[in-house]
Amino acid sequence: MKKKILVTGGAGFIGSHVVRRFVNNYPEYEILNLDKLTYAGNLANLTDIEHKPNYRFVKADITDAAAMVEIFRVENFDAVIHLAAESHVDRSISDPTAFVMTNVIGTVNLLNAAREYWKGAYDQKRFYHVSTDEVYGALDETGMFTESTAYDPHSPYSASKASSDHFVSAYHDTYGLDVVISNCSNNYGSHHFPEKLIPLAINNIKNNQAVPVYGKGENVRDWLWVEDHARAIDVIFHEAKTGETYNIGGHNEWKNIDLIHLLCKIMDKKLGREMGTSAQLITFVTDRAGHDLRYAIDSSKLQNKLNWVPSLQFEEGLEKTVDWYLENEEWLRNVTSGNYQTYYNKQYSSN
Ligand code: NAD
Ligand code: TYD
Repeated sequence: MKKKILVTGGAGFIGSHVVRRFVNNYPEYEILNLDKLTYAGNLANLTDIEHKPNYRFVKADITDAAAMVEIFRVENFDAVIHLAAESHVDRSISDPTAFVMTNVIGTVNLLNAAREYWKGAYDQKRFYHVSTDEVYGALDETGMFTESTAYDPHSPYSASKASSDHFVSAYHDTYGLDVVISNCSNNYGSHHFPEKLIPLAINNIKNNQAVPVYGKGENVRDWLWVEDHARAIDVIFHEAKTGETYNIGGHNEWKNIDLIHLLCKIMDKKLGREMGTSAQLITFVTDRAGHDLRYAIDSSKLQNKLNWVPSLQFEEGLEKTVDWYLENEEWLRNVTSGNYQTYYNKQYSSN
């Protein structure tokens, strides 16, 4: 069936994998990628599909309400897959307002445009909101987040995402908009901006620079290969019932310090360094304020109801990821030039 789908944030890390998957797997769909191209948005993430006839790009800012209404008026979308966001916790600690603007106001602008232009046809349209497990707060050593875990966000990033999730649900409950929300654990893979732990560490190890580990490296994250996330979004988009929420996770918990040691081993092997060389770069630095101890996702609803399971073991996925960064030096050089150095020096200067 033909569909015209608006994907927001499609030039970012996860968005580019979602756009690529939908453009390649559904030639009958028209995909419009709307992205502001912030520091995290990069059209070089999509060069392999940018000439496909079912793909278009428009540069726009979701905080611009009038622009969102206009694009809905002109395009007559069948669905939205909303990924555009400010996504980095450390940046949310230094500038929370940008997170309120894009993640909360931007989401409400899209919901308002959908509410207005889809009126009378809500049952034939779908608003898919991509969110994070960080809305649930932090776990101690045991337990997992399920879809019914109460929201308890701690960082300005997770607070803004939690707020946006509540608005999406409220538009379903109040106006009857067909919405679906998914809350995913930490992603890793190609095209990940090197401000996040894994790509930052790969870049630093490659350049023989210190690898900053916050606190004692005891915090735990549940890592999922980004292409498995994109596949989960595909399945949920097509099969979830209206108003449903799904948790997505890899059942793959790692303490940061153990993950970094594994990465150092892989890098030693790939770079032909003596085993143990890269691990010498590990440097413990001042902890992140309000640092959530542990995230772990129970994705059994998605596995049982929609038959989704992660496809890759972490070690294999991490090797593939390292290979991608080593093979794409120009991509890495481009995104780490200019403003990246200013950000990096400010973020890590106190250590
Ligand atoms: P990202 O930072 O790599 O990409 C975000 C994209 O949104 C960029 O292309 C950026 O240019 C665009 N954008 C930002 N502000 C915008 C605005 N005002 N208007 C239009 N476009 C704008 O983020 P990501 O890691 O790909 O995350 C995508 C989504 O998935 C986010 O909603 C995030 O909360 C969620 N998520 C991320 C993870 C993760 O591990 N990265 C895990 C779970 C959920
Ligand atoms: P990050 O990739 O920023 O994702 P999130 O904060 O959304 O989970 O960080 C992953 C973990 O790694 C988190 O516990 C913070 C830690 N971390 C470091 O130890 N050093 C770093 O330089 C960064 C960026 C993160």
